[in-house]
Amino acid sequence: MKKVLVVFDSTYGNTEKLGREIASGIEETGIAECKVINIDDVESEDLSVYDGVLFGGPIHAFRATRGIKGAVKKAAKKGLDGKLVASYDTYQATSHEGKAAKQIEGLLKKKASGANVLSPGLSALVLDREGPLQDDEPAKAREFGQRFAQELGE
Ligand SMILES: Cc1cc2nc3c(=O)[nH]c(=O)nc-3n(C[C@H](O)[C@H](O)[C@H](O)COP(=O)(O)O)c2cc1C
Repeated sequence: MKKVLVVFDSTYGNTEKLGREIASGIEETGIAECKVINIDDVESEDLSVYDGVLFGGPIHAFRATRGIKGAVKKAAKKGLDGKLVASYDTYQATSHEGKAAKQIEGLLKKKASGANVLSPGLSALVLDREGPLQDDEPAKAREFGQRFAQELGE
């Protein structure tokens, strides 16, 4: 069984929920088991045991949060070579769909050039600043998780 780490930054819990849906999608395949952690726990996590890592956060003021960017940098320093990585985000303004995920992905490519990036990442709409996620987003997140796992299994 492979192992996947899902890292999230989340102010109101929506990005955390999205990360947990992705993890459910991954585990449904039977290809990998997942651990879901907050950005603050990257420091103490032994990354060497994971085959894949996902990084997600909300968009704040047009940008991926400093928190998730810091977590990517920290994880890259600890070692992401040879792992499958991907990004995900949550957004509220329709014109901001995918923006933060793309920034996280760009940082992954820059700081962890030895990782394999599953692109594009996932982007999910929240209906208000504090949520909830739009109705169909959890199902899309599980599908994204399944795709991630299949890529990992090949
Ligand atoms: C300080 C702040 C700035 C935000 N800026 C944006 C923005 O530029 N574009 C956007 O679509 N949503 C913006 N939002 C809404 C967030 O996308 C939304 O709060 C987030 O996706 C919810 O996820 P969370 O529950 O994981 O924090 C902002 C929210 C906060 C708190």
